[in-house]
Amino acid sequence: GNVIGVFTSGGDAQGMNAAVRAIVRVGIFLGCKVYYIKEGYQGMVDGGDNIQLATWESTSSTIHMGGTLIGSARCLDFRERPGRLKAAKNLVELGITNLIAIGGDGSLTGANLFRQEWPGLLRELVDTNQITMDRLTTCSHLNIVGLVGSIDNDFCGTDMTIGVDSALHRIIESVDEIMTTAVSHKRAFVLEIMGRMCGYLPLVAGISSEATMVFIPEDPPEGDWRQGLCDHIKESSKTDARRTHIVLVAEGAIDRFGNIIKCSDVQKVLTERMNMDVRVTVLGHVQRGGRASAFDRIIGTRMGTEAVLALMDAGPETPACVIVLHGIDIVRTPLMKAVETTKLVGQKMSELNFDEVVNLRGRF
Ligand code: F6P
Repeated sequence: GNVIGVFTSGGDAQGMNAAVRAIVRVGIFLGCKVYYIKEGYQGMVDGGDNIQLATWESTSSTIHMGGTLIGSARCLDFRERPGRLKAAKNLVELGITNLIAIGGDGSLTGANLFRQEWPGLLRELVDTNQITMDRLTTCSHLNIVGLVGSIDNDFCGTDMTIGVDSALHRIIESVDEIMTTAVSHKRAFVLEIMGRMCGYLPLVAGISSEATMVFIPEDPPEGDWRQGLCDHIKESSKTDARRTHIVLVAEGAIDRFGNIIKCSDVQKVLTERMNMDVRVTVLGHVQRGGRASAFDRIIGTRMGTEAVLALMDAGPETPACVIVLHGIDIVRTPLMKAVETTKLVGQKMSELNFDEVVNLRGRF
């Protein structure tokens, strides 16, 4: 049977465990050996106890858990060729020629590079007597399938990444909680929302929580945002005398000149110009914490299943794919194109308008 290695890399996200569980169970069901590669790429480089055979039972009672039980790390060693050479040796020794990488765009780019280098790495391992020629022959191709696990929803080509929905729940729960104290004191709250250069979470959270204003990187406010915010509050107060205002600020929010809009800037405006009592709350890693929502458990399971099926279908010439959500369908899409478009959006964000970003992302 085939030998599969699964690892999670980059920032953890709720629903990763559901994906790992599905990969292990579908893999075993189809007669494969599945190995956990713990601590992301670092575990692959370090080998030893970090690479362990997965059993069916080891995934019991994990589907609801947040985070990633097999650990994740940001790994510098894997960025250098000597690190990748060690990783290749560790995989080949166990006959692992199928990898499922669960992570963000950085982690998936690394996986693709590894795949391209694989024949050269194996040749070097033979030349330096670290593996036999036999091993090279049986392990000559590395198949890679990616799953996008990230709370940010910043990956092009998928409607939702694993973890976004749970993060959204965390944000809304936090806003609901803050609301009770905000209303009691007639205070305004400015909340910083994580998500790197992607405004999906604050935008959707804003709709779900009746926020007064949302600042996101993809759509810098036209004109003077300070004045715009004050005018909006004055205008809306005519028809809706609210006891509180909630403003959501994406961590990557910018003004029309490309300057970061900080929560403290918004607080200053509301305090000085609107005479409001204002508090700032940075939600931070609370967003990434806690249980996986039903939606993340389900897409994690469906994507994990599809990842194993994609590996089973892959031949030496099949390009690496990433498993994505299109509408309600789980489908395969070329990994490299998705990674390149994601990079492009990041680099050109300031030159693109909101619609262009949405189009490039595929479905926002
Ligand atoms: O990419 C996920 C994410 O949580 C971002 O939203 C955030 O900017 C970043 O990771 C935080 O990174 P770290 O966990 O290393 O502090």
